[in-house]
Amino acid sequence: MKEYLLKDEWNIIEEGFIPEYNRISESVFSIGNGYMGQRANFEEKYSGESLRGTYMAGVYYPDKTRVGWWKNGYPEYFAKVLNATNWIGIDIKINNIDLDLAQCEVLEFKRVLNMKEGYLQRSFLAKMPNGHTAKVDSQRFVSMRHKELGLIKYTLTLLTTDASLQIKPYLDADVVNQDSNYEEKFWIEVEKSMHEGEAFVTAKTKKTDFHLCTGMKFQVFHNNKEIDIRTLELDSEEKEKYAALAFNLHVQPNDTLTLYKYAANVTSRDHEIDQLKKICAEALHTAYQKGFEQMIQEQAEAWAAIWEHSDISIQGDVDAQQAIRFNIFQLNQTYTGEDERLNIGPKGFTGEKYGGSTYWDTEAYCLAFYLATAEPQVAKNLLVYRYKHLPKAIENAQKLGFKNGAALYPMVTINGEECHNEWEITFEEIHRNGAIARAIFDYIRYTGDQEYLVDYGLEVLIGISRFWSQRVHFSQARQKYVMHGVTGPNEYENNINNNWYTNTMAQWTLRYTTEAINWVKNQAPQKYAEILEKTHFKESAETARWQEIANNLHFPYSEELGVFLQQDDYLDKEQLTVDQLDPKERPINQNWSWDRILRSCFIKQADTLQGIYVFEDRFDLETIRRNFDFYEPRTVHESSLSPCVHAILAAKLGRKEKAYEMYLRTSRLDLDDYNNDTEDGCHITSMAGTWMAIVQGFGGMRIKNDLLSFEPFIPTQWDAYAFKILFRGHLLNIQILKDKIVIGNQSPKTITVLIHGEENQVEGNSQIEVALS
Ligand code: BGC
Repeated sequence: MKEYLLKDEWNIIEEGFIPEYNRISESVFSIGNGYMGQRANFEEKYSGESLRGTYMAGVYYPDKTRVGWWKNGYPEYFAKVLNATNWIGIDIKINNIDLDLAQCEVLEFKRVLNMKEGYLQRSFLAKMPNGHTAKVDSQRFVSMRHKELGLIKYTLTLLTTDASLQIKPYLDADVVNQDSNYEEKFWIEVEKSMHEGEAFVTAKTKKTDFHLCTGMKFQVFHNNKEIDIRTLELDSEEKEKYAALAFNLHVQPNDTLTLYKYAANVTSRDHEIDQLKKICAEALHTAYQKGFEQMIQEQAEAWAAIWEHSDISIQGDVDAQQAIRFNIFQLNQTYTGEDERLNIGPKGFTGEKYGGSTYWDTEAYCLAFYLATAEPQVAKNLLVYRYKHLPKAIENAQKLGFKNGAALYPMVTINGEECHNEWEITFEEIHRNGAIARAIFDYIRYTGDQEYLVDYGLEVLIGISRFWSQRVHFSQARQKYVMHGVTGPNEYENNINNNWYTNTMAQWTLRYTTEAINWVKNQAPQKYAEILEKTHFKESAETARWQEIANNLHFPYSEELGVFLQQDDYLDKEQLTVDQLDPKERPINQNWSWDRILRSCFIKQADTLQGIYVFEDRFDLETIRRNFDFYEPRTVHESSLSPCVHAILAAKLGRKEKAYEMYLRTSRLDLDDYNNDTEDGCHITSMAGTWMAIVQGFGGMRIKNDLLSFEPFIPTQWDAYAFKILFRGHLLNIQILKDKIVIGNQSPKTITVLIHGEENQVEGNSQIEVALS
């Protein structure tokens, strides 16, 4: 754990330069706008430890994977989000020596991520090997309004004697991915061009043929006076996939030199290839016309609008305040929901790990956040993404021997195809299908958009239910349906039988699909007929089998303990609890052999408790308590997705301290580099879990009978907290204080909400207060 970042409500601040932490900061201070993202690399050269990263959403490469023991059904490739053209680069030479912080004495250094207004700022004072002292202030952002644009303001002041400066803004597509096999490069140059203060580099990806045209344009000010670019002698430098325009200036001590670099990134995902350069030039023109100051103002406005419906404020605990805003900020930087072809990678745009691909994290964790903090279309597009991948999910299931339109969604995907090839995950971690089905229910329950079932949802549900019905078999011995050879969310168990969570999701899907069929049949008979035809659905035979399975599925249970068992024979394991582990051996995944992990009873992440969280309405508090008390002491939380579920259940059980402890484990995970891995990127998907821990955990927010319901408490460490919620056209501000809840309705229509089960009306543009005991 590292606590080197300063605490502030709206900013992440690093003061003083610690080169060993630079890669961590590069992740934490990343900027993004859902279309592209940029790690917090320096604009100028840096020869120290760094992971340079610029990522364009949806631009990937299918890299060959190497596995010793190939299994039928394995995918051919692992998709990688590609490190793309470096658009931020500005090389500086002072009297012919590179400004490179790794070679300087860094006298002052500050990096600030301004989360309120959406930009990154960096300033430093550095003494160079040639004795010059340079002061730099840089500001940059990727625009939320004009997604293809990134802007930089870079100001340099020399404090010692006069000197000759060389400034070289450049574009460089000659980049690698950190984990590419044999340092392979994935970009091929298509064309480049340069003229008066503008440069363009177009490169395309190998195999996938994505074209990316990056353009730059700049303005220079000397002591706040603009220099006409035409009067500068621009030196163009061309290399393969690289274009730079350099100029020299002689400056006096204390002169300021400001370079505004405007960059545009346009891709063939959105435009015709032969139009790319033209569109890129137009985008640059927009940036140039508006100028940096206007565009940063617009950026602040765009972020103000986002915060207006997604902020959480916490009074009395600046650590927690900073952390939750950081989580919300990163989620909004990662996914903005305009493009149904995009989804949320576990590291977002902050690193390359997990390949930028989609996991079950989206449905099980992220969906709740986007549902409550953005317009319904944003969450809907996450679901439509899966709908569009249904044919591939059917193909994927076919490869594994399933038939008749059974769909198995991939565990890891970028375009609908499975990318993961560890058999215990690829073939066995099938619970992801359950999360995808449940997301349809969650989306409809939250938004009331029943039409979704008709237009998209039902087809997906049929495919998934067909899969479950073929994945189980009837056990003569038990006289029950069973599901063998699975891996539950707890990846520290493989190839187990009857994972309680997976069976629960399967049973629920089979029943919900049947209900959905009846609903669509009644409400949209015409569309239902089309779906029947398209899916070759044999309604009575198939639904009868689903009901038969759902009613006779085996669920492991211990009568003696009164708990659901994570899987058959879980109790045969040596029963230990985490407090009996030697702290030096934790995390066990870094200290134990894999077989030892698998044989142990230790649980990586919420598994049975994940199911209890999803279906909490089915269980009385006593049942939840027994299961919580059994599983929580056995859980090592070695997935960042785990603590939030425990926080929510602890909150439900009235265990405030436990809930708070669990919440803290994820909220500052990246800021304090809790797991020693932030340098690879931030844990974006678990950030949604942090939000869930506050809103669903402490706030106790649920949807009940079509109404928003709250059963809140306030952690003793806080004076008050408030969160914004969008619900069916209403914008609500929920404030929870020590003794009351205040619900502000910021929309014109009245809304009815439940508070501890009691109905309360909140008229439009007004608020109510309800005392909390
Ligand atoms: C977790 C999975 C998760 C993946 C990506 C793994 O460590 O066990 O549940 O989907 O990380 O976040």
